[in-house]
Amino acid sequence: MAEETPIYFNPWDPAFRDNPYPHYGALLAGPPRLMDLGIKVALVARYADVIRVMHDHEHFSNMGPPPPPEAYQGRLAGSRNLLGTDPPVHTQLRRLVSRDFTPRRIRELEPRIREIAAEILDRVERTGEFDVVKDLANVLPVTVIAEMLGVPVELNATFKEWSDKLIDAGNNLPGTPTPPEVVKTVDALTDYFEREIEKRRKDPGPDLVSALVQAHDTGDVLSSADLLNFVSLLLIAGNETTTNLIGNGTLALMRNPDQLALLRSNPALLASAIEEMLRYDGPVQSTVRFPKAAANVGGAEIPAGAITFVVLAAANRDPAKFPAPERFDITREPNEHVAFGEGIHFCIGAPLARLEASIAFGVMLDRFPNLRFKDPELKPKYKGSYILRGIESLPMTIN
Ligand code: HEM
Repeated sequence: MAEETPIYFNPWDPAFRDNPYPHYGALLAGPPRLMDLGIKVALVARYADVIRVMHDHEHFSNMGPPPPPEAYQGRLAGSRNLLGTDPPVHTQLRRLVSRDFTPRRIRELEPRIREIAAEILDRVERTGEFDVVKDLANVLPVTVIAEMLGVPVELNATFKEWSDKLIDAGNNLPGTPTPPEVVKTVDALTDYFEREIEKRRKDPGPDLVSALVQAHDTGDVLSSADLLNFVSLLLIAGNETTTNLIGNGTLALMRNPDQLALLRSNPALLASAIEEMLRYDGPVQSTVRFPKAAANVGGAEIPAGAITFVVLAAANRDPAKFPAPERFDITREPNEHVAFGEGIHFCIGAPLARLEASIAFGVMLDRFPNLRFKDPELKPKYKGSYILRGIESLPMTIN
Protein backbone atom coordinates (compact mmCIF):
# COMPACT_ATOMS: atom_id res chain seq x y z
CA MET A 1 0.00 0.00 0.00
CA ALA A 2 1.26 3.51 -0.85
CA GLU A 3 2.52 5.63 2.07
CA GLU A 4 0.01 8.31 3.09
CA THR A 5 1.28 11.90 2.97
CA PRO A 6 1.50 13.29 6.52
CA ILE A 7 -1.28 15.73 7.30
CA TYR A 8 -1.68 18.50 9.83
CA PHE A 9 -5.13 19.68 10.87
CA ASN A 10 -5.68 21.42 14.19
CA PRO A 11 -8.46 24.03 14.51
CA TRP A 12 -7.17 24.92 17.98
CA ASP A 13 -3.70 25.91 16.75
CA PRO A 14 -3.59 29.68 16.04
CA ALA A 15 -0.86 29.20 13.39
CA PHE A 16 -3.03 26.67 11.57
CA ARG A 17 -6.03 29.00 11.77
CA ASP A 18 -4.00 31.94 10.44
CA ASN A 19 -3.17 30.05 7.27
CA PRO A 20 -4.71 26.61 6.85
CA TYR A 21 -4.26 26.59 3.06
CA PRO A 22 -0.76 25.05 2.85
CA HIS A 23 -2.13 22.12 4.86
CA TYR A 24 -4.95 21.40 2.43
CA GLY A 25 -2.64 20.12 -0.34
CA ALA A 26 -1.96 16.85 1.50
CA LEU A 27 -5.67 16.41 2.23
CA LEU A 28 -6.54 16.96 -1.42
CA ALA A 29 -4.00 14.38 -2.54
CA GLY A 30 -6.11 11.39 -1.52
CA PRO A 31 -9.29 9.99 0.02
CA PRO A 32 -10.70 11.35 3.29
CA ARG A 33 -8.42 10.85 6.27
CA LEU A 34 -9.19 9.82 9.82
CA MET A 35 -7.56 11.54 12.79
CA ASP A 36 -7.68 11.56 16.52
CA LEU A 37 -8.06 15.08 17.92
CA GLY A 38 -9.04 13.79 21.33
CA ILE A 39 -12.23 12.87 19.50
CA LYS A 40 -12.34 10.79 16.32
CA VAL A 41 -12.63 12.97 13.26
CA ALA A 42 -12.78 12.41 9.52
CA LEU A 43 -11.52 15.05 7.08
CA VAL A 44 -13.31 15.33 3.74
CA ALA A 45 -11.55 17.77 1.42
CA ARG A 46 -11.70 16.77 -2.27
CA TYR A 47 -14.42 18.59 -4.20
CA ALA A 48 -16.13 15.38 -5.37
CA ASP A 49 -16.06 13.92 -1.85
CA VAL A 50 -17.49 17.13 -0.36
CA ILE A 51 -20.37 17.11 -2.84
CA ARG A 52 -20.99 13.43 -2.13
CA VAL A 53 -21.20 13.95 1.65
CA MET A 54 -23.32 17.10 1.46
CA HIS A 55 -25.91 15.26 -0.65
CA ASP A 56 -26.02 12.16 1.51
CA HIS A 57 -28.13 13.25 4.48
CA GLU A 58 -29.22 9.64 4.98
CA HIS A 59 -25.73 8.78 6.24
CA PHE A 60 -24.38 12.20 7.17
CA SER A 61 -26.62 13.91 9.67
CA ASN A 62 -26.59 17.56 10.72
CA MET A 63 -27.69 16.51 14.19
CA GLY A 64 -24.73 16.14 16.49
CA PRO A 65 -24.70 14.33 19.80
CA PRO A 66 -26.53 16.20 22.59
CA PRO A 67 -24.38 19.05 23.96
CA PRO A 68 -22.26 17.99 26.96
CA PRO A 69 -23.55 19.05 30.41
CA GLU A 70 -20.80 21.69 30.71
CA ALA A 71 -22.09 23.55 27.62
CA TYR A 72 -24.56 26.19 28.74
CA GLN A 73 -27.78 26.32 26.73
CA GLY A 74 -30.13 28.33 28.92
CA ARG A 75 -33.55 28.62 27.37
CA LEU A 76 -32.22 27.28 24.07
CA ALA A 77 -31.92 23.80 25.61
CA GLY A 78 -33.60 21.15 23.51
CA SER A 79 -34.38 23.56 20.68
CA ARG A 80 -33.71 23.03 16.99
CA ASN A 81 -32.66 25.20 14.08
CA LEU A 82 -32.29 24.80 10.32
CA LEU A 83 -28.63 24.00 10.38
CA GLY A 84 -28.90 21.37 13.10
CA THR A 85 -31.79 19.31 11.71
CA ASP A 86 -32.38 16.64 9.07
CA PRO A 87 -35.50 16.04 6.98
CA PRO A 88 -38.40 15.99 7.63
CA VAL A 89 -37.96 18.63 10.39
CA HIS A 90 -35.43 20.56 8.31
CA THR A 91 -37.82 20.66 5.36
CA GLN A 92 -40.60 22.09 7.56
CA LEU A 93 -38.36 24.70 9.17
CA ARG A 94 -36.83 25.77 5.86
CA ARG A 95 -40.27 26.27 4.35
CA LEU A 96 -41.06 28.78 7.10
CA VAL A 97 -38.31 31.20 6.14
CA SER A 98 -37.58 30.46 2.50
CA ARG A 99 -40.08 33.01 1.23
CA ASP A 100 -38.32 35.78 3.16
CA PHE A 101 -35.02 35.01 1.47
CA THR A 102 -35.95 34.63 -2.21
CA PRO A 103 -33.79 36.68 -4.59
CA ARG A 104 -36.88 38.83 -5.35
CA ARG A 105 -37.54 39.64 -1.66
CA ILE A 106 -33.87 40.33 -1.13
CA ARG A 107 -33.72 42.70 -4.13
CA GLU A 108 -36.36 44.84 -2.41
CA LEU A 109 -33.79 45.54 0.31
CA GLU A 110 -31.28 46.99 -2.17
CA PRO A 111 -32.14 50.71 -1.80
CA ARG A 112 -31.92 50.51 1.99
CA ILE A 113 -28.62 48.58 1.90
CA ARG A 114 -27.20 51.22 -0.48
CA GLU A 115 -28.30 53.92 1.93
CA ILE A 116 -26.63 52.21 4.89
CA ALA A 117 -23.39 51.70 2.91
CA ALA A 118 -23.41 55.34 1.77
CA GLU A 119 -23.92 56.59 5.35
CA ILE A 120 -20.98 54.48 6.52
CA LEU A 121 -18.68 55.74 3.77
CA ASP A 122 -19.80 59.37 4.30
CA ARG A 123 -18.55 59.01 7.85
CA VAL A 124 -15.28 57.53 6.61
CA GLU A 125 -14.81 60.39 4.15
CA ARG A 126 -15.36 62.96 6.89
CA THR A 127 -12.77 61.43 9.19
CA GLY A 128 -10.32 60.35 6.46
CA GLU A 129 -9.65 57.17 8.47
CA PHE A 130 -10.82 53.85 7.06
CA ASP A 131 -10.60 50.41 8.56
CA VAL A 132 -12.48 48.17 6.11
CA VAL A 133 -13.28 45.61 8.81
CA LYS A 134 -14.13 47.89 11.72
CA ASP A 135 -15.88 50.69 9.83
CA LEU A 136 -17.61 48.81 7.02
CA ALA A 137 -17.58 45.00 7.31
CA ASN A 138 -18.50 44.96 11.00
CA VAL A 139 -21.31 47.47 10.55
CA LEU A 140 -23.15 46.81 7.28
CA PRO A 141 -24.31 43.17 7.72
CA VAL A 142 -25.33 43.59 11.36
CA THR A 143 -27.37 46.69 10.49
CA VAL A 144 -29.13 44.84 7.67
CA ILE A 145 -29.96 41.69 9.64
CA ALA A 146 -31.03 43.77 12.66
CA GLU A 147 -33.43 45.73 10.45
CA MET A 148 -34.75 42.50 8.95
CA LEU A 149 -35.43 41.22 12.45
CA GLY A 150 -36.97 44.56 13.43
CA VAL A 151 -34.31 45.44 16.04
CA PRO A 152 -33.84 49.19 16.61
CA VAL A 153 -30.63 50.74 15.33
CA GLU A 154 -29.49 51.78 18.86
CA LEU A 155 -29.05 48.09 19.64
CA ASN A 156 -26.74 47.31 16.71
CA ALA A 157 -23.55 47.47 18.77
CA THR A 158 -25.07 45.20 21.43
CA PHE A 159 -26.25 42.86 18.70
CA LYS A 160 -22.78 42.65 17.21
CA GLU A 161 -21.30 42.02 20.66
CA TRP A 162 -23.74 39.15 21.28
CA SER A 163 -22.97 37.64 17.92
CA ASP A 164 -19.18 37.87 18.53
CA LYS A 165 -19.49 36.28 21.99
CA LEU A 166 -21.59 33.38 20.68
CA ILE A 167 -19.08 32.74 17.90
CA ASP A 168 -16.24 32.80 20.45
CA ALA A 169 -18.12 30.17 22.43
CA GLY A 170 -17.66 27.83 19.46
CA ASN A 171 -13.88 27.98 20.01
CA ASN A 172 -14.11 26.48 23.46
CA LEU A 173 -12.04 23.36 23.78
CA PRO A 174 -14.33 20.33 24.04
CA GLY A 175 -14.91 19.41 27.67
CA THR A 176 -14.38 22.93 29.04
CA PRO A 177 -17.29 24.73 30.71
CA THR A 178 -18.99 27.67 28.99
CA PRO A 179 -17.25 30.92 30.07
CA PRO A 180 -19.41 33.19 32.29
CA GLU A 181 -19.58 35.99 29.70
CA VAL A 182 -21.07 33.55 27.16
CA VAL A 183 -23.65 32.40 29.73
CA LYS A 184 -24.54 36.07 30.26
CA THR A 185 -24.84 36.62 26.50
CA VAL A 186 -27.10 33.61 25.91
CA ASP A 187 -29.38 34.90 28.69
CA ALA A 188 -29.34 38.51 27.46
CA LEU A 189 -30.14 37.46 23.91
CA THR A 190 -32.93 35.12 24.87
CA ASP A 191 -34.41 37.67 27.35
CA TYR A 192 -34.41 40.30 24.64
CA PHE A 193 -36.03 38.14 21.98
CA GLU A 194 -38.55 36.66 24.38
CA ARG A 195 -39.79 40.18 25.08
CA GLU A 196 -39.75 41.05 21.37
CA ILE A 197 -41.66 37.90 20.49
CA GLU A 198 -44.39 38.84 22.96
CA LYS A 199 -44.55 42.37 21.52
CA ARG A 200 -44.82 41.11 17.93
CA ARG A 201 -47.47 38.62 18.92
CA LYS A 202 -49.66 41.53 20.05
CA ASP A 203 -48.55 43.95 17.37
CA PRO A 204 -47.04 42.21 14.33
CA GLY A 205 -44.88 44.19 11.91
CA PRO A 206 -43.34 43.48 8.49
CA ASP A 207 -40.21 41.96 10.07
CA LEU A 208 -38.88 38.41 10.17
CA VAL A 209 -39.52 37.90 13.89
CA SER A 210 -43.22 38.69 13.35
CA ALA A 211 -43.31 36.19 10.45
CA LEU A 212 -41.72 33.51 12.62
CA VAL A 213 -44.05 34.24 15.54
CA GLN A 214 -46.98 33.76 13.19
CA ALA A 215 -45.52 30.47 11.94
CA HIS A 216 -45.06 29.36 15.53
CA ASP A 217 -48.61 30.25 16.48
CA THR A 218 -50.40 28.85 13.45
CA GLY A 219 -48.26 26.05 12.08
CA ASP A 220 -47.30 24.38 15.35
CA VAL A 221 -43.89 23.59 13.86
CA LEU A 222 -41.73 25.85 15.99
CA SER A 223 -41.63 25.58 19.78
CA SER A 224 -40.87 28.80 21.69
CA ALA A 225 -37.29 27.63 22.17
CA ASP A 226 -37.00 26.81 18.44
CA LEU A 227 -38.16 30.31 17.67
CA LEU A 228 -35.45 31.78 19.89
CA ASN A 229 -32.85 29.43 18.41
CA PHE A 230 -33.83 30.41 14.88
CA VAL A 231 -33.45 34.10 15.60
CA SER A 232 -30.03 33.47 17.20
CA LEU A 233 -28.94 31.48 14.13
CA LEU A 234 -29.99 34.29 11.82
CA LEU A 235 -28.12 36.77 13.96
CA ILE A 236 -24.87 34.81 13.70
CA ALA A 237 -25.23 33.37 10.20
CA GLY A 238 -26.39 36.66 8.72
CA ASN A 239 -23.68 38.69 10.31
CA GLU A 240 -20.21 37.29 10.84
CA THR A 241 -20.08 35.47 7.50
CA THR A 242 -20.80 38.52 5.36
CA THR A 243 -18.47 40.60 7.55
CA ASN A 244 -15.71 38.13 6.76
CA LEU A 245 -16.50 38.08 3.05
CA ILE A 246 -15.95 41.85 2.93
CA GLY A 247 -12.73 41.60 5.01
CA ASN A 248 -11.18 38.54 3.34
CA GLY A 249 -12.31 39.75 -0.09
CA THR A 250 -10.71 43.18 0.31
CA LEU A 251 -7.50 41.52 1.42
CA ALA A 252 -7.45 39.24 -1.64
CA LEU A 253 -8.19 42.12 -3.98
CA MET A 254 -5.54 44.42 -2.51
CA ARG A 255 -2.93 41.67 -2.52
CA ASN A 256 -3.55 41.13 -6.24
CA PRO A 257 -3.14 44.61 -7.75
CA ASP A 258 -3.55 43.32 -11.34
CA GLN A 259 -7.00 41.96 -10.41
CA LEU A 260 -7.89 45.18 -8.61
CA ALA A 261 -6.91 47.20 -11.69
CA LEU A 262 -8.91 44.85 -13.90
CA LEU A 263 -12.00 45.28 -11.73
CA ARG A 264 -11.59 49.05 -11.66
CA SER A 265 -11.34 49.14 -15.45
CA ASN A 266 -14.29 46.78 -15.88
CA PRO A 267 -16.84 47.14 -13.05
CA ALA A 268 -19.10 44.61 -14.80
CA LEU A 269 -16.73 41.98 -13.36
CA LEU A 270 -17.90 42.75 -9.81
CA ALA A 271 -20.29 39.78 -9.47
CA SER A 272 -17.67 37.38 -10.79
CA ALA A 273 -15.01 38.96 -8.50
CA ILE A 274 -17.23 38.29 -5.47
CA GLU A 275 -17.62 34.63 -6.48
CA GLU A 276 -13.84 34.39 -6.68
CA MET A 277 -13.46 35.97 -3.22
CA LEU A 278 -15.85 33.32 -1.90
CA ARG A 279 -13.88 30.54 -3.56
CA TYR A 280 -10.39 31.78 -2.83
CA ASP A 281 -10.72 32.65 0.87
CA GLY A 282 -14.28 31.93 1.94
CA PRO A 283 -15.75 32.98 5.29
CA VAL A 284 -16.73 29.39 6.16
CA GLN A 285 -13.67 27.13 6.07
CA SER A 286 -15.46 23.98 7.02
CA THR A 287 -18.74 22.61 8.18
CA VAL A 288 -19.40 19.37 10.07
CA ARG A 289 -21.54 16.29 9.65
CA PHE A 290 -22.23 13.33 11.92
CA PRO A 291 -22.22 9.90 10.22
CA LYS A 292 -25.12 7.79 11.46
CA ALA A 293 -23.61 4.62 9.98
CA ALA A 294 -20.26 3.77 8.41
CA ALA A 295 -19.99 5.16 4.88
CA ASN A 296 -17.50 4.85 2.08
CA VAL A 297 -16.43 8.21 0.72
CA GLY A 298 -14.00 8.39 -2.19
CA GLY A 299 -12.46 5.04 -1.21
CA ALA A 300 -12.18 5.65 2.54
CA GLU A 301 -14.39 4.13 5.19
CA ILE A 302 -15.73 6.78 7.57
CA PRO A 303 -16.94 5.08 10.75
CA ALA A 304 -20.25 5.93 12.41
CA GLY A 305 -19.79 8.65 15.00
CA ALA A 306 -16.54 10.18 13.61
CA ILE A 307 -17.12 13.93 13.53
CA THR A 308 -16.75 14.69 9.85
CA PHE A 309 -15.16 18.00 8.88
CA VAL A 310 -16.36 18.84 5.38
CA VAL A 311 -13.62 21.27 4.45
CA LEU A 312 -15.35 23.59 1.99
CA ALA A 313 -12.33 25.89 1.64
CA ALA A 314 -10.09 22.95 0.69
CA ALA A 315 -12.61 21.75 -1.93
CA ASN A 316 -12.55 25.28 -3.33
CA ARG A 317 -8.83 24.83 -3.96
CA ASP A 318 -9.08 21.34 -5.46
CA PRO A 319 -6.98 21.28 -8.68
CA ALA A 320 -9.24 18.50 -10.01
CA LYS A 321 -12.06 21.07 -10.11
CA PHE A 322 -10.39 24.50 -10.40
CA PRO A 323 -7.45 25.07 -12.78
CA ALA A 324 -4.62 26.96 -11.01
CA PRO A 325 -6.62 26.98 -7.75
CA GLU A 326 -4.06 29.11 -5.89
CA ARG A 327 -4.53 31.96 -8.36
CA PHE A 328 -7.01 34.71 -7.49
CA ASP A 329 -8.70 35.25 -10.83
CA ILE A 330 -11.79 37.47 -10.90
CA THR A 331 -12.67 36.29 -14.41
CA ARG A 332 -12.76 32.61 -13.40
CA GLU A 333 -15.55 30.88 -15.31
CA PRO A 334 -17.06 28.47 -14.42
CA ASN A 335 -16.66 28.97 -10.69
CA GLU A 336 -18.79 26.35 -8.98
CA HIS A 337 -17.40 26.90 -5.49
CA VAL A 338 -18.98 25.44 -2.36
CA ALA A 339 -18.49 28.48 -0.12
CA PHE A 340 -22.26 28.56 0.53
CA GLY A 341 -22.44 24.78 0.99
CA GLU A 342 -24.31 22.35 -1.20
CA GLY A 343 -27.55 20.37 -1.14
CA ILE A 344 -30.51 20.85 1.20
CA HIS A 345 -28.62 23.07 3.67
CA PHE A 346 -27.31 25.41 0.95
CA CYS A 347 -27.05 28.87 2.50
CA ILE A 348 -30.47 30.50 2.60
CA GLY A 349 -28.80 33.91 2.94
CA ALA A 350 -26.64 33.61 -0.22
CA PRO A 351 -28.68 36.16 -2.25
CA LEU A 352 -28.48 38.62 0.66
CA ALA A 353 -24.74 38.09 1.18
CA ARG A 354 -24.06 38.55 -2.54
CA LEU A 355 -26.14 41.72 -2.62
CA GLU A 356 -24.47 43.21 0.45
CA ALA A 357 -21.00 42.37 -0.86
CA SER A 358 -21.68 43.80 -4.29
CA ILE A 359 -22.96 47.04 -2.76
CA ALA A 360 -20.07 47.25 -0.28
CA PHE A 361 -17.35 46.64 -2.90
CA GLY A 362 -19.11 48.68 -5.60
CA VAL A 363 -19.50 51.76 -3.41
CA MET A 364 -16.08 51.44 -1.78
CA LEU A 365 -14.14 51.17 -5.06
CA ASP A 366 -16.20 53.92 -6.62
CA ARG A 367 -15.68 56.37 -3.78
CA PHE A 368 -12.03 55.67 -3.10
CA PRO A 369 -10.00 55.47 -6.32
CA ASN A 370 -6.73 55.59 -4.32
CA LEU A 371 -7.67 52.90 -1.80
CA ARG A 372 -4.56 51.08 -0.55
CA PHE A 373 -3.14 49.35 2.53
CA LYS A 374 -2.11 51.78 5.25
CA ASP A 375 0.75 49.43 6.07
CA PRO A 376 2.09 47.71 2.94
CA GLU A 377 3.76 45.10 5.19
CA LEU A 378 0.42 44.30 6.82
CA LYS A 379 0.25 40.95 8.61
CA PRO A 380 -3.45 40.56 9.31
CA LYS A 381 -4.57 39.16 12.64
CA TYR A 382 -7.23 36.48 12.38
CA LYS A 383 -10.13 36.14 14.79
CA GLY A 384 -10.24 33.02 16.96
CA SER A 385 -12.51 30.76 14.91
CA TYR A 386 -11.31 28.18 12.38
CA ILE A 387 -14.79 27.50 11.03
CA LEU A 388 -15.64 31.18 10.50
CA ARG A 389 -12.47 32.69 9.04
CA GLY A 390 -11.98 36.43 9.20
CA ILE A 391 -9.56 39.21 10.07
CA GLU A 392 -9.88 41.61 12.99
CA SER A 393 -8.87 44.78 11.27
CA LEU A 394 -7.78 46.16 7.88
CA PRO A 395 -6.62 49.78 8.02
CA MET A 396 -6.56 51.53 4.64
CA THR A 397 -5.54 54.87 3.20
CA ILE A 398 -8.11 56.59 1.02
CA ASN A 399 -6.33 59.72 -0.22
C1 HEM B 1 -20.77 35.36 2.65
C2 HEM B 1 -21.68 35.09 3.53
C3 HEM B 1 -22.16 33.72 3.88
C4 HEM B 1 -21.52 32.50 3.75
C5 HEM B 1 -20.14 32.22 3.18
C6 HEM B 1 -22.43 31.50 4.26
C7 HEM B 1 -22.16 30.14 4.27
C8 HEM B 1 -23.06 29.17 4.61
C9 HEM B 1 -22.82 27.76 4.50
C10 HEM B 1 -21.53 27.11 4.04
C11 HEM B 1 -23.96 27.12 4.89
C12 HEM B 1 -24.21 25.62 4.90
C13 HEM B 1 -23.68 24.97 6.13
C14 HEM B 1 -23.87 23.48 6.15
O1 HEM B 1 -24.45 22.89 5.22
O2 HEM B 1 -23.42 22.89 7.13
C15 HEM B 1 -24.91 28.14 5.28
C16 HEM B 1 -26.17 27.88 5.78
C17 HEM B 1 -27.00 28.87 6.27
N1 HEM B 1 -26.83 30.22 6.16
FE1 HEM B 1 -25.26 31.16 5.32
N2 HEM B 1 -23.57 32.11 4.69
C18 HEM B 1 -23.46 33.45 4.47
C19 HEM B 1 -24.41 34.43 4.73
C20 HEM B 1 -25.63 34.21 5.31
C21 HEM B 1 -26.62 35.21 5.59
C22 HEM B 1 -26.50 36.67 5.21
C23 HEM B 1 -27.66 34.57 6.22
C24 HEM B 1 -28.97 35.08 6.76
C25 HEM B 1 -29.39 36.27 6.77
C26 HEM B 1 -27.33 33.17 6.30
C27 HEM B 1 -28.12 32.20 6.87
C28 HEM B 1 -27.89 30.86 6.77
C29 HEM B 1 -28.80 29.85 7.32
C30 HEM B 1 -30.09 30.11 8.07
C31 HEM B 1 -28.23 28.60 6.99
C32 HEM B 1 -28.82 27.22 7.30
C33 HEM B 1 -29.56 26.72 6.09
C34 HEM B 1 -30.06 25.30 6.25
O3 HEM B 1 -29.56 24.57 7.10
O4 HEM B 1 -31.01 24.93 5.51
N3 HEM B 1 -26.08 32.98 5.74
N4 HEM B 1 -24.36 29.38 5.09
